[in-house]
Amino acid sequence: PSAALDRAESLIRTIADYPEPGILFRDITPLLADAAALRAVIEALIEPFSGQFDVVAGIEARGFLLAGAVATVAEVGLVPIRKAGKLPRPAASVSFTLEYAQATIEAHDDIEPGTRVLLVDDVLATGGTLVAAHELFEVLDGHVIGTAVLMELTTLGGRERVGDVHAVFTA
Ligand code: PRP
Ligand code: MG
Repeated sequence: PSAALDRAESLIRTIADYPEPGILFRDITPLLADAAALRAVIEALIEPFSGQFDVVAGIEARGFLLAGAVATVAEVGLVPIRKAGKLPRPAASVSFTLEYAQATIEAHDDIEPGTRVLLVDDVLATGGTLVAAHELFEVLDGHVIGTAVLMELTTLGGRERVGDVHAVFTA
């Protein structure tokens, strides 16, 4: 890995007992605030999929922070996957279980069938969010060519649920 990526990794702050006791929270805001680190991680997210996708889909909320930059650097469009109730004309809606709660994600259908989609989120934990996002694109007839996250939390087994995921960093 490049020096810029090493530096980016060092800018992910680990916070104990947030948002609940016993949870180690990975705070990427110091990385986002650093121009070179942000550029390096965006390029690393895209790198294995360069030229292979027509749109990037980012998952609200923290996935949006990365997906907009990915879209601009890769010169593709962006499809927002939003939490329930935020989109005026959702064409697909998938409910799933998070560590402590139920969640629903939704998307519009503004892509042509067969559009090649790169799914992007910040963190892969249990994998529930990304599995639901894959299901959304099955409904929409989008072709998910890859899944990329900034950080994979390996002990939570997300990879077993989601399948092949490109993770820039692991913890
Ligand atoms: C967090 C994180 C990922 C997801 C990973 O989102 O940003 O999207 O959890 O967890 P999983 O692999 O167990 O599904 P969260 O919904 O907590 O909040 P956000 O709106 O800040 O992204
Ligand atoms: Mg999230």
